[in-house]
Amino acid sequence: MASLAKTDQRRRKSAPGSRPAPAGPRVFHNFVAGQWGPAISQETFANVNPADTRDIIGTFPRSGAADVDRAVRSAQRGFDRWRRTPAPGRGDVLRRVGDILVRRKDELADIMTREMGKPLAETRGDVQEGIDTAYYAATMGRQLFGHTVPSELRAKWAMSFRRPIGVCGIITPFNFPLAIPTWKMFPALVCGNACVFKPAEDVPHTATMLVEIFLEAGLPPDVMQLVHGDAEAGAAIVAHPDIPVVSFTGSTETGRRIGEVCGRMHKRLSLEMGGKNAQIVLDDADLDLALEGVLWGAFGTTGQRCTATSRLILHQGIHDGFLERLTDRVQALRLGDGRREGTDVGPLIHAAARAKVEEYVEVAQHEGAHLVTGGRRATSGALAHGFFFQPTIFAGVQARSRLEQEEIFGPVLSVIRVASLDEAITVNNDVAYGLSSSLYTRDVNASFRALTDLDTGITYVNAPTIGAEAHLPFGGVKQTGNGHREGGWQVYDFYSETKVGYVDFSGTLQRAQIDTYLGTPD
Ligand code: UN1
Repeated sequence: MASLAKTDQRRRKSAPGSRPAPAGPRVFHNFVAGQWGPAISQETFANVNPADTRDIIGTFPRSGAADVDRAVRSAQRGFDRWRRTPAPGRGDVLRRVGDILVRRKDELADIMTREMGKPLAETRGDVQEGIDTAYYAATMGRQLFGHTVPSELRAKWAMSFRRPIGVCGIITPFNFPLAIPTWKMFPALVCGNACVFKPAEDVPHTATMLVEIFLEAGLPPDVMQLVHGDAEAGAAIVAHPDIPVVSFTGSTETGRRIGEVCGRMHKRLSLEMGGKNAQIVLDDADLDLALEGVLWGAFGTTGQRCTATSRLILHQGIHDGFLERLTDRVQALRLGDGRREGTDVGPLIHAAARAKVEEYVEVAQHEGAHLVTGGRRATSGALAHGFFFQPTIFAGVQARSRLEQEEIFGPVLSVIRVASLDEAITVNNDVAYGLSSSLYTRDVNASFRALTDLDTGITYVNAPTIGAEAHLPFGGVKQTGNGHREGGWQVYDFYSETKVGYVDFSGTLQRAQIDTYLGTPD
């Protein structure tokens, strides 16, 4: 219905006798130096719908180092002005961005599902995460707290306050096309920085909409630069000497390469990378609840979340019965176009993602895991032109096997049987990653034990491994990250520099650490 209405409107708009729009895919642009335009090289790439590759969304600029350089020059001009705009005013722009996201939520969700595949309920949630982040950021414009602390000397004040840093390079993934860019750019902007934004090449349309919304909300154009493209544009951002801050969400391998460059150049870098998240179910758990939890955690977003449940650790007492019930429910999941009513699981993002899942199915079989359900492409009927893969469960998965250790980023769940909570915690922790974990139990002691001992940045009790909220810090330990957090109050420290001020109004030279309060008062 919605798309029919759109077509009608377009027809009505064209005056009689005007030429029909030329055939061919829609042409999208970068937003650099306040203008929408192509890459300097004129090169482009096509963006297709992963649920039906015959549906071409449009062509987008394939940018290179020269485009990034132009963007940085403009962003520096934007930064000079924006840093002087009072922070409450910067926050007001973000509030208006939030208002526009509320108004255009359904339209954005449809655009997002079309280019990356997850069902509309999920893409609406993605927009909502952006809305929550916007309103939080708006209030932070009035709360960029520093500290005022007593000086050790008389008639002297000591305080800290925040300064913006400069041009931030923002490199984002496909799985949360709206929410993740907002996690990074909203706090960066409220803190007074400018952004050069390089979205994943799979979701450039949503990114374009977000930049349009920034402009509609009144963000000065130079403050935001949108540079479409692939790894070449990303690498140019990372290596640009005038981008002092880089924030990246994506694979651990790419993050490592970015870290090497940023380390050499002394850049401030936030990395949010892989996960191998487990849901643990103890034998005293509410099993109905645990079942809903793992279905959502493992197969939501087709398993393409950093927080996805890719391991299910079952206490031996409930293992067989739980697995049987889970298998029935997984087999009933409806695969399809996320824009279609009733779809539970959408496609994978592209052919390479599907090939990677297939590779792991082979690895699993090689390692002797037992394929319980799924394991193959889904190509029948309406699925024939998309990157669909059957929701898959392997049981009898051995701790420390590749299947159990490596991030797959697809609809594949590995089931591991354990004899105790202690063993579950050991299995959970014995991986390179540490983003999210979950424990289902009715035992309050076990819950707090899990919160204390599971080596992850986030632990859920009686809730799945996915579903972080925008106003709390988000991030992981070990190879998942590099110690920074997104979301909540903590990310504001990443996007601002702490400066300290001392004001001595004593009128005399007071020597710190030498003249102390023990001296004679006047
Ligand atoms: C991600 O997969 O990179 O907690 C982010 C969640 C979402 C965010 C996931 N709110 O699953």
